[in-house]
Amino acid sequence: MHAVISNTPLSPNVNRLDVVAPRIAQIRQPGQFVIVLRCEGAERIPLTVADADPVRGTITLVIQAVGKSTRELVALKAGETIAGIAGPLGKPTELISTGRALCIGGGVGTAVVHPIAQGLHRRGVSVLSIIGGRSREWVIFENELRQLGDVTVCTDDGSYGRHGFVTDAAKDALAQGGIDVVYAVGPVPMMRAVVNLTRPLGVHTIVSLNPVMVDGTGMCGGCRVAVGGQTLFACVDGPEFDGHQVDFELLMDRLSTYRVFEQQALAACQEGACKVGLA
Ligand code: NAD
Ligand code: FES
Repeated sequence: MHAVISNTPLSPNVNRLDVVAPRIAQIRQPGQFVIVLRCEGAERIPLTVADADPVRGTITLVIQAVGKSTRELVALKAGETIAGIAGPLGKPTELISTGRALCIGGGVGTAVVHPIAQGLHRRGVSVLSIIGGRSREWVIFENELRQLGDVTVCTDDGSYGRHGFVTDAAKDALAQGGIDVVYAVGPVPMMRAVVNLTRPLGVHTIVSLNPVMVDGTGMCGGCRVAVGGQTLFACVDGPEFDGHQVDFELLMDRLSTYRVFEQQALAACQEGACKVGLA
């Protein structure tokens, strides 16, 4: 059992949970994730380890409440427990050792970019982060990223920072030159737009993919993605891949396949079929 130490709202539907998981806190590396099982019989939720404190023995999970299971997770209070956390899973991020990196985080994907920026900063790489949200209240991890380098904040409605998508700011940053690698995490259309910017410039671009996962060990095939014409499993071959090789259309198609089931589960939950009360 893993005790929840704190539960902090970061934006209208995103919460930060700090959870006791000493072994994972010690060995996790940027880019790796865990699979969380709230209680016996619950859905298994893959979540990036957004941060860790090896001394305290805790890991930070950032959860967007979009469906039944994620709503149940963000409803956990300090002192309550999570039945199981498996990990760290997946391959660590391919980090450069010198030069300048551009880290782009869209919405909740910013929490996935944070450990990458931390890893780069520890190696002495210059980090420029571009992060965005629909409006000011959706911008997360700004202060944490400011400790690691320059940060440009964008909002879709212009309520904070630069008006527009993160890709607008990324286009300008890339035009200035000097970027050795781009790491981009966020909604699939955002990552696809980033690789469309960097491909003609020949700037290596790493994206983190979020297909549906079940076992997280390469056995079920649920997380298969097409990269460079090959079928790969995001849980063991990724979740990060060369963005210029990713088949984003297939990824979007596979993600939409499960949307109807997720909506049905959420509807059942809202009708009172699940144990946790919803706002
Ligand atoms: P969102 O829809 O609010 O978008 C966040 C930001 O991304 C926007 O403010 C904008 O700057 C940028 N963006 C969005 N659409 C864009 C487009 N078409 N072109 C260019 N930029 C665009 O995001 P959200 O609701 O916080 O995130 C939800 C999505 O992120 C979900 O689809 C989720 O599955 C995905 N996600 C992905 C990962 C991952 O590892 N890849 C992790 C967490 C969440
Ligand atoms: Fe089952 Fe990746 S989650 S193969």
